[in-house]
Amino acid sequence: MDIKSVILAAGKGTRMKSETPKVLHEIFGKTLVGYVLDNVKNITSENFVIVGHHAEEVESFVKKNYDNAKTVLQTPQLGTGHAVSMVCPMLENYKGLILILCGDTPLITEETLKKFIDFHKSQKSDLTVMSTIFENPTNYGRIIREADNTLKCIVEEKDATPEQKAVKEVNAGIYCIDWAKVQPAFSQLTSNNAQGEYYLTDIIEWGKKNSLNVNAFILENNEEIFGINSRLHLAEATKIMQKRINEKHMINGVTIVDPATTYISADTEIGQDTVIFPATYIEGKNIIGKNCKIGPCAHLRGGVEIADNVKIGNFVEVKKSKINSNTNAGHLSYIGDSEIGSHVNIGAGTITANYNPLTKEKSKTVLEDNVKIGSNTVLVAPVTVEEGANVGALSVITKNIPSWALALTRSPMRVLNDWVKKQLK
Ligand code: UD1
Ligand code: CA
Repeated sequence: MDIKSVILAAGKGTRMKSETPKVLHEIFGKTLVGYVLDNVKNITSENFVIVGHHAEEVESFVKKNYDNAKTVLQTPQLGTGHAVSMVCPMLENYKGLILILCGDTPLITEETLKKFIDFHKSQKSDLTVMSTIFENPTNYGRIIREADNTLKCIVEEKDATPEQKAVKEVNAGIYCIDWAKVQPAFSQLTSNNAQGEYYLTDIIEWGKKNSLNVNAFILENNEEIFGINSRLHLAEATKIMQKRINEKHMINGVTIVDPATTYISADTEIGQDTVIFPATYIEGKNIIGKNCKIGPCAHLRGGVEIADNVKIGNFVEVKKSKINSNTNAGHLSYIGDSEIGSHVNIGAGTITANYNPLTKEKSKTVLEDNVKIGSNTVLVAPVTVEEGANVGALSVITKNIPSWALALTRSPMRVLNDWVKKQLK
């Protein structure tokens, strides 16, 4: 059966106190809505992202990065139910399933979504909502059940009676619906509630009244549905993500000396027996080979491909670069937009000057196999150092260097004998 998703991302995100739309805030260099879109990409045939607040920014982000997603404008934003109704004109004759998710819930996993859909199918459900248990359920919608434990409705915090507020089962904000059966609900929702909004949550009660098969899938790991509404939540989600990712790598045979101070993005692959030393920060998409040593205090900024037996030492920053096997950049360097061969040694303090502030263009540095770069060298890109060439320390390299040559731009050293003694007289 065909599955499409609707991802809600039109809300204001007032509590973020930000000029940036909430769903474009980042964890390890990846946007919140990016996590959600990546989670559905192997499940759905098409995805609709509902945009409204700062619509253009979210729209251009989605267009640029996700070709399986369309954006749909919601103006004004009259609530989560109103948001979903925006896709009705596009899906008039659609017969498949719709998975509804929130753009501010990045910790959900593909695995859980697959289980959720399997559950929906196995129950022959028409409408399934994901729920979980929170010791402190504040701010979430509460799942209200009948005496026989079947679902009754969802009540928002602001509409809840003290009795309902005590319920610890909450709405995760993730739904799977048989579109053809539930679609009529969207023209029948009312905004008769504390926030004057068209609540998506009301489709539960609507489904019950219309004799649909309505079910809840209770998620055990409540961390996954953690929704981000403030910067405090963003930091908390980053911590959860950090722990989850570090554990995955350690289970796969990567040594992480101090997981508490090591941050690795979700889209980084790391080979076996690589050691990640403390205070290392890895964001964006990267591939790190086997037997590498990364850090302490290294920063990989995305687009980095490192082969086996490579050492990236302390205070080395790498961005959008390929580094071949057995190469070392041990200390205090910046490697950006570069292609680096194998058995290359990059001396302490080497900088690839990749950015021209006048043209705003970035250029490439190529270091072929067996190149040795002396300490404190600046490689002014575009520049190529051919195989086996050496660069003397403290050089500014502005021209290509042929194979096996030595290049240096250092001024000759002078020694003035007894100079100090004469000054002291
Ligand atoms: C919502 C649910 C709540 C659930 C919680 C889970 C409703 C009424 N409440 O509450 O039961 O426990 O999520 O995280 O659905 N949005 C739009 N258009 C709008 C309004 C919101 O696209 O007009 C988007 C927001 O950008 C956000 C999502 O919908 O991504 C959820 O909205 P939010 O205001 O965060 O709802 P919650 O109060 O968290
Ligand atoms: Ca929310």
